[in-house]
Amino acid sequence: MCGIVAYIGDKQAFPIILEGLKRLEYRGYDSAGISILNDDITTVKKKGKVSELEKATKNVDMNGTIGIGHTRWATHGKPDDINAHPHVSNSGRLTLIHNGIIENYASIKTALIELGHNFKSETDTEVLVNLIEELQNQKNISLEDAVREALTRVVGAYAIVVIDKNDPNVLVGARKSSPLVIGIGDNEYFLASDASPIIKFTNKVVYLQDEEIVTVRRNADFEVRNIKNQIQTPQIKELDLKIEELEKGGFDHFMLKEIFQQPVTIFESMRGRINAEEGWVSVGGMQDHMKKFENANRLIFVACGTSWHSALIAEYLFEDLARVPVEVEYASEFRYRNPIISENDVVIALSQSGETADTLAALSLAKKKGALTYGIVNVIGSSIARMTDCGSYIHAGPEIGVASTKAFTSQLVILSLMALNLGHRKGTINEGDFRKLIFALESLPSKVERILKLNEKIKYISAEIKNSQHALYLGRGYNFPAALEGALKLKEISYIHAEGYPAAEMKHGPIALIDEHMPVIVIATNESAREKIESNIQEVKARKGIVIAVILEGDEKIKEMADYSIEIPEVAEPLSPLLSAIPLQLLSYHIAVMRDCDVDQPRNLAKSVTVE
Ligand code: G6P
Repeated sequence: MCGIVAYIGDKQAFPIILEGLKRLEYRGYDSAGISILNDDITTVKKKGKVSELEKATKNVDMNGTIGIGHTRWATHGKPDDINAHPHVSNSGRLTLIHNGIIENYASIKTALIELGHNFKSETDTEVLVNLIEELQNQKNISLEDAVREALTRVVGAYAIVVIDKNDPNVLVGARKSSPLVIGIGDNEYFLASDASPIIKFTNKVVYLQDEEIVTVRRNADFEVRNIKNQIQTPQIKELDLKIEELEKGGFDHFMLKEIFQQPVTIFESMRGRINAEEGWVSVGGMQDHMKKFENANRLIFVACGTSWHSALIAEYLFEDLARVPVEVEYASEFRYRNPIISENDVVIALSQSGETADTLAALSLAKKKGALTYGIVNVIGSSIARMTDCGSYIHAGPEIGVASTKAFTSQLVILSLMALNLGHRKGTINEGDFRKLIFALESLPSKVERILKLNEKIKYISAEIKNSQHALYLGRGYNFPAALEGALKLKEISYIHAEGYPAAEMKHGPIALIDEHMPVIVIATNESAREKIESNIQEVKARKGIVIAVILEGDEKIKEMADYSIEIPEVAEPLSPLLSAIPLQLLSYHIAVMRDCDVDQPRNLAKSVTVE
């Protein structure tokens, strides 16, 4: 949440920072601001999206080769021009951008007010910038030392960058629990929440570690120290990320591009990990710890949002194929309970961004209790990828639409591979079923292609239900979590109230809501509960609900019963959510577009939730 970007070098900073903010906008978009340091610091901040900020800077002199920018997702104080970042210290000497939360800001603010500081905004960030200035004044120390000292006094999470009017050749940045990446160019440096604003200029980056402070000087080497002032040796990484991966590539929205990328992303997630002809599956991250997995008492999955839905599907996969008990936890609940975790448990975190604050905290807890921690993550080099004992990247490529699509299906690919790998090792799956499933996995990309050809039909169905106020999604077994995910997608981007339910539970409440205005989306692809699903559809029809059924190709019986049907190719049941998810993604997408909603940046949401 919140995107930050800073530049120092010999180019004009403003266009670089503005473009960087547009790339980081997925992290928050309720207000934005930029400060450029020339002889003085010029700051422009605006409520709304980065495009509003761009308009507001039209007639302002933003000349300068050092600057900082921020796109905000409000935590303290409403989204308006005043609460927008950057925040300026009382004397106007320092300007700061911040991603995170300073939890003890109230007591620091009181102390600063007593010392004569006054505050214009309601933010915790304005407190931090004044604390740094106060320390500079009291102790006559450098910006870097003042930042370090200030950070020892704050409790909370932060990624910050500060500039100082009195020293126009330096940027100071720091992080704790919120990401900060240093980009190393030719005579220039970048600091940003992720590599997306940097990659156009350089692929050389350093991921700052928790409680590290970086000082970047013009025409000099950068220096990283920890909060105890000990010099650190940063690891420079070369990123394999292309700028085209961050563009819409001819699609109207990132979400649509990402839905349509799925034949490729599903393939990429499997690449090198499976060979159906030779009959093997091998998930690298698991191999060194296979004994731990084989002897695990339990697998505990921790995640949030869409990743939590993937974890629910993992429960079916691992119990079914590898016969190991599984628990699935909302990371936010898990971290604040006193969960029983032993050294014989494996705690698996699922996260697209690898930065979700609650998931990180749940992992720290699991580590403390001695469990093996495993990360299933999309963003390379992210905090979860770095803090876990082992793990697997899902290799879905950058996901920019706030509503997760391709990361979800890639997570399911990895989870299926892992469950198969473990089941095969343990002998809990017979060779015939194992072979069938790995062939089925390899056939997924072409099946997804076929589903994507239904786009126009799904668009037609979307038009029929776009004015609904509520929607119900039903599924059974493996497709119950897929129903939850379908409902979440609709809610997130079209603002229609939607609920997912296990189909049989419909009778215990949601049935009371069904009338001729209620679309009920039924995932009816499971062979195992065939008759039961048919009865559920009859029950909905009897109450005049509008049934949209996701069925297997050629299922004439359910097609007859349903008002609308979407036919997907036949697939082994454990893999069916991978296919049933796709028409539901398209349905939400088209409904949201028809309702004129901001599909890629839905209101109040952010892609990377780095605050709890
Ligand atoms: C936010 C995003 C969701 C995502 C969830 C978990 O709510 O809007 O799309 O599923 O965070 O994020 P993670 O990066 O941990 O998967």
